[in-house]
Amino acid sequence: MSSQPVNSNPSLHSVPTHRHEVLLVGGDFAASREIRLLLESAGGVGVTLCVRTTDATDEAIRTCPTVILVDLRLPGVDGLQVVDALERCAEIGAVPTIILATQETDSIREAAFARGVSDFIIFPVSTTELIAKVRTHSNGYLNVLKRNRSIAAYESLQSELRTSHRALEEHRRIGSLSAHEAVDPDWQIRLNGLMQIGVELHLIQDLQSLLDRILSEARHLLRATAGTIFLREGDTLRFAFFQNDELAHRTASGETPHVPTFSLPVCDRSIAGWVCLTGQLVNIPDCYRIPADAPYRFDSSFDSLLGFRTRSMVAVPLTDHAGRIHGVIELINPVSDQGNPRVGFPVQDTQLMEHFANIATLAINRAHHRENEMRRMLKMAEFRDADETGGHIERVAGYSAVIFEEWSRRRGLEGPAFERQRDRLRDAARVHDVGKMAISDVILRKTGQLDAAEYEEVKKHTQRGSELFSSHNPSDLDDARREVALLHHERWDGKGYPGIEEAGRRRGRRGEEIPLFARIVGLSDVFDALSTRRCYKEAWDEARVLEFMQGESNRHFDPELVEIFFAQLDAIRTVRDAHRDHL
Ligand code: C2E
Ligand code: SIN
Ligand code: SIN
Ligand code: FE
Ligand code: FE
Repeated sequence: MSSQPVNSNPSLHSVPTHRHEVLLVGGDFAASREIRLLLESAGGVGVTLCVRTTDATDEAIRTCPTVILVDLRLPGVDGLQVVDALERCAEIGAVPTIILATQETDSIREAAFARGVSDFIIFPVSTTELIAKVRTHSNGYLNVLKRNRSIAAYESLQSELRTSHRALEEHRRIGSLSAHEAVDPDWQIRLNGLMQIGVELHLIQDLQSLLDRILSEARHLLRATAGTIFLREGDTLRFAFFQNDELAHRTASGETPHVPTFSLPVCDRSIAGWVCLTGQLVNIPDCYRIPADAPYRFDSSFDSLLGFRTRSMVAVPLTDHAGRIHGVIELINPVSDQGNPRVGFPVQDTQLMEHFANIATLAINRAHHRENEMRRMLKMAEFRDADETGGHIERVAGYSAVIFEEWSRRRGLEGPAFERQRDRLRDAARVHDVGKMAISDVILRKTGQLDAAEYEEVKKHTQRGSELFSSHNPSDLDDARREVALLHHERWDGKGYPGIEEAGRRRGRRGEEIPLFARIVGLSDVFDALSTRRCYKEAWDEARVLEFMQGESNRHFDPELVEIFFAQLDAIRTVRDAHRDHL
């Protein structure tokens, strides 16, 4: 396929290291910054400032907070309206909201509690009280999450309810478009196609595959040679995905060439920026002949970078049902049925594109949200295990990527397809122990040696973790996650777990019965467990760890991977030192 994911969104993939994630909405910048400082100095608390109250829900979906603070202390902020908007948003409705107020705004107290606000903090307030309240509510929320961590419930909630509900909503919206139908029989056919695509998009679980599919469908719909999707992150538009047939023809592999990440400010200096700013669609016959009085400009830096000539462009905002703009999709250089270049997109096509963009936005938000939930669960799993640091996960993911790169290099594998595999592995490595959520703290935090029964209990984390990724429509990422969660404790010599049933007996998988990703993560996991302190053991010094790793070649570990590990030791050390635990 002539497509290629540009660098994954770091905010989606990096695992937060704070237990409490605060979103502070509204208010004066200096005062908010002061609160942020106070909270952050308390430790274990991360704070995101959301200055514009209209962005509150967007920011909440993005940051997945455990507490939301709405600051009412400035005039002009209609806090109740913000609270209403947060309340209406299904993804974040359950996150506790605390109002920051002064005696004067005390009058809205009743109304606020009636809307489900969890608490009030009346300024001036002592630092101790502020921090205590934030912690209490955040903990309450985390406990609810833990209690509800029943994996089955989570999955069905995610995929069944939302998909069917929203697909239905979308059905109605498109159904009401009947004006065109009478005039143009072809229109009905295309709309039906659109419906079908809408349903399919809802089945795609991971963001990169989703963007790929959205762009392919949009280009197909409008017969566009190239296309780009930008996703909004605060005040910038991140260049998230692009496809370009013309450039793909120029490369040997037929893949769109790699493009460095870049972003545009949300402003009128680029077409995408202006569309995001105003929410209006534009249809431009020639980007290099935009009339001087047009409210936007074309930013040609991307063209120069690629040696490409953008001519006609349709740029459509990715707008959700509440009118929030999440990004922009641009379609570039249309061709005729015969494949000849043509100038300009027909108006009717742009209307179709608007509806398509609505459907795509729902799917993108859902994928985003799913990734956020995943991060939240990961974080919980980890806090219970590793003394509340993000280190273990990031190190295991990093070691795994280093080993896989060398493994692939030795086989002459490189390019975008390989990079996608490496990213899948990295992602899967991050969730290898997510099943520990289901294991009792009494066992995980035991300072001494586990007894046999306790160890049997711990072993279940592999099965429990993998269940999390066994939805009926698994994504590409889910497959890797499931495999790694289930099999990272198998051993090359067949003495690991959970093993397989064979002739009525249970035996460990051995050798290449264990998939590569699981072998790599298994080795990385043990290396990290030995190198760092655990509640049940001290860190070993490096020499001792390395001796152990060598000794386990052909026993616990795949000998080729051990060899690669030692060949890449410098890179491994770099990863280790970049993600040290600060305890
Ligand atoms: P973990 O702490 O992340 O350890 C992962 C793996 O690293 C272990 O898998 C084991 O293969 C290796 N490993 C860790 N520490 C040592 C060690 O001191 N010596 C040796 N030779 N290997 C070590 P394993 O054994 O299947 O354990 C899985 C998980 O069970 C561990 O994850 C940990 O959460 C828990 N666990 C294992 N043993 C104990 C224990 O004695 N006390 C407690 N509280 N938890 C334990
Ligand atoms: C692009 O060429 O895709 C970005 C340029 C713009 O939106 O102005
Ligand atoms: C990364 O390479 O850090 C992000 C890719 C991923 O985790 O999927
Ligand atoms: Fe494990
Ligand atoms: Fe682990």
